[in-house]
Amino acid sequence: MSIENKKTLDVYQDTAHLYLENTIEHDRLDPEKAKKKREALDEFIRISFSSLPENAKVFEIGSADGVNAKYIESLGYDVTASDIADDFIKATRSQGVKTIKFNALEDDFVEKYFAIFCWRVFVHFTEEDAKKLISKAYQNLEENGIFVFNAINREAKEVDSEWVDFPGEYHMGVERYYNYFTQDKLDEIIGQTPFQIQSFHKEGGKEKNKWLVYVLKK
Ligand SMILES: C[S@@+](CC[C@H](N)C(=O)[O-])C[C@H]1O[C@@H](n2cnc3c(N)ncnc32)[C@H](O)[C@@H]1O
Repeated sequence: MSIENKKTLDVYQDTAHLYLENTIEHDRLDPEKAKKKREALDEFIRISFSSLPENAKVFEIGSADGVNAKYIESLGYDVTASDIADDFIKATRSQGVKTIKFNALEDDFVEKYFAIFCWRVFVHFTEEDAKKLISKAYQNLEENGIFVFNAINREAKEVDSEWVDFPGEYHMGVERYYNYFTQDKLDEIIGQTPFQIQSFHKEGGKEKNKWLVYVLKK
């Protein structure tokens, strides 16, 4: 686990309550946009998971407010949500979803899953962290299982990585580490594992170029 990720997790431990409030405030400022974004993510999850067996075990890394985990559970899957910050774990449990404390880079999975979902978490990973989690996900998936994740696209940024405290409604009063990946780099890392890329697309931002979104198949 990198020092960058560790320090960022320390920030979340102290400020998760602010992150949760800011997320609600952000959605409240433009409810129409928030609704469309939610519907698009729900549809992506539903389609990506459609090949999984009924009641398949699904693990989510970095669940934060638990909204994604709750949606995945509503599709009939057996979800284990997880995070590191206590306030995130509390928030996800309050949605009624089984939730554990789990550091994706340090802790061992206790069983295998048909899907591992990791949304907006690679933003806080160095390249080494990304390599580690992708190969760990492979080892802990059932045959034909999927690993779904996204990362911020380096092409849309002017620097490779930075420590940021966003202005406006996302202001937390302390910087978090953000790392930006190129598609080539992620393809190279994925190519070092036996994973197949089941689907890939870019999305978000004005040019729909902000995020690199991968569904990998074991
Ligand atoms: C930007 S938030 C995204 C939260 C949520 N997945 C979403 O899309 O709303 C980043 C999340 O990654 C989690 N995270 C970062 N590094 C992690 C690690 N090594 N293990 C587990 N969770 C981690 C943080 O605790 C936080 O919940």
